[in-house]
Amino acid sequence: MKKFFKLNQSAVEYLARNYGSPLLVLSENQIERNYKFLAKRMPGVKIYYAVKSNPHERIIRKLNELGSCFDVASDGEILALAAQGIPANRMVYANPTKTPGGLRAAKSTGVNKFTFDSESEAIKMGKAVPGGTVLVRIRVDNPDAHVDLNKKFGARPDDALRLLKIAQAQGLDAAGICFHVGSQSPSADAYIQSLKISRRLFDEAKAEGLNLRILDIGGGFPIPVINEDIDISGMIEAIGAAVNHYFPDTEVWCEPGRFICGTAMNLITSVIGVQERNNKQWYFLDDGLYGTFSAIIFDHWEFELETFKSGLMIPATFAGPSCDSLDILYRDKLTVPLEMDDVLLVPNCGSYTSASATVFNGFAKTPIIIWEDVEAELIKNIELAG
Ligand SMILES: Cc1ncc(COP(=O)(O)O)c(C=O)c1O
Repeated sequence: MKKFFKLNQSAVEYLARNYGSPLLVLSENQIERNYKFLAKRMPGVKIYYAVKSNPHERIIRKLNELGSCFDVASDGEILALAAQGIPANRMVYANPTKTPGGLRAAKSTGVNKFTFDSESEAIKMGKAVPGGTVLVRIRVDNPDAHVDLNKKFGARPDDALRLLKIAQAQGLDAAGICFHVGSQSPSADAYIQSLKISRRLFDEAKAEGLNLRILDIGGGFPIPVINEDIDISGMIEAIGAAVNHYFPDTEVWCEPGRFICGTAMNLITSVIGVQERNNKQWYFLDDGLYGTFSAIIFDHWEFELETFKSGLMIPATFAGPSCDSLDILYRDKLTVPLEMDDVLLVPNCGSYTSASATVFNGFAKTPIIIWEDVEAELIKNIELAG
């Protein structure tokens, strides 16, 4: 399968010329490939796409066509998906601490599946969404994950059954367990460890009269990154096999975000300033830390900045367009020397990028176009020009 979506030089130059820069280009076909890649290697595991990673409506539409379910985390995500015709029974409200507005949105749209990790949340849900189906989120250790979500979320595994019993006493449907091994996990190990812990908890629950029937193994599936060689196919197959081994008769869900959308979007960005400051080379780009590159702050991500030039590599500082000194993407990043108006390509920037971009300082969010909408036009024009 095509591992990631990547524009070639003629496409980048055509798109920059005709659609402007900065520009994000999203491939629906890559979304479909990623979805099917996961589904094939974890047969029987229901996919709930984590909308937070990239809520673009064409991603939601494509995944809806493919039969995906959705992980939502706020009133905004619930209402946006409901407005797009996503049935409530295909959403899980997977934010362990929910807002009153989020619970009202769940109630009004009929979303009835939730995760939680505390007693206070069980009491809150018992009042707001009586009868709701709930999964307790357990904390799992995975120092190898790129983003450790377990610093903020998850109950101690040895507290899980107590919390489920409290949920039941509040009139909720205590249905199962969920975990998230942390985002961009480099191996299957943490999943397998968490599956073993969950198996033990399911067995203990049964002995204590709780009949658990759903396990949610969260997100965390990785995408290709600079200087790291992860056997993604082998890893996901190993997780799928472990799910079958430990939970052959349980309904199992997963909540991938990055894996579905990360490799499906490219950024086209241009050099808008070239300076030498204190004998160091600086390049200013038309997208920055407050825009698509917000992932550098929020997701600790390192992006590839590809140029279509050749030359001896030099260290340079890359800065964004805003009038703010924080807006520096990278210092001493190796690059070929660049000039004003040079166009750069940033592949693999579909997750936690546009989703967390701001309009700070009056810079509009970088527009997103769909590759499959423009591909035919582009091929025709490039052929004509050739
Ligand atoms: C509850 C939950 N599920 C799923 C995800 C998606 O994780 P990933 O993008 O690593 O697949 C997240 C990410 O923050 C999350 O908080």
